Amino acid sequence: MTVDPYEKFWMWMAGVIVATFIGTIAYTARAYTLQPPSHVETIDPAQVMQDPRFATPGVTALPDGRQQVVMVGLRFSWLPPEVHVRARTPVTFRLTSMDVIHGFEVAGTNANTMVVPGYVSQFTTTFDKPGKYLVACNEFCGDGHHLMQAAIVVEGAP
Ligand code: CUA
Repeated sequence: MTVDPYEKFWMWMAGVIVATFIGTIAYTARAYTLQPPSHVETIDPAQVMQDPRFATPGVTALPDGRQQVVMVGLRFSWLPPEVHVRARTPVTFRLTSMDVIHGFEVAGTNANTMVVPGYVSQFTTTFDKPGKYLVACNEFCGDGHHLMQAAIVVEGAP
């Protein structure tokens, strides 16, 4: 049985395309630290402010020198609306929502996660450059979606 050369060519090309896609995922996962959400941790969305993990949102310095930022999303703001962290020091974000799905994206960085009611989203990143970073909500959450923002002020000598 003979296979038409064009047929054969495109069969191989299909394989090359699939390999390119898988290679792209593997490369970006390593080079840009793109990862799926790290863990599954649940929370009662109606009791967020009573929950000891989220009762006092803000920045905490951890004993090992890292920083932890706890923030709560609700239509249409983040609590607290501004946090200050140090540059070149790992920051672990812990986020949850009191109502609907929000998106937490720190503009200009690879910090980006969905914030889903009932779950705690967590990721760790390091800001190399001092400055004021905008947090934008990137999941449509209602009338005020475009107003839902916060600021992360990264402090340190440039
Ligand atoms: Cu919150 Cu869009």
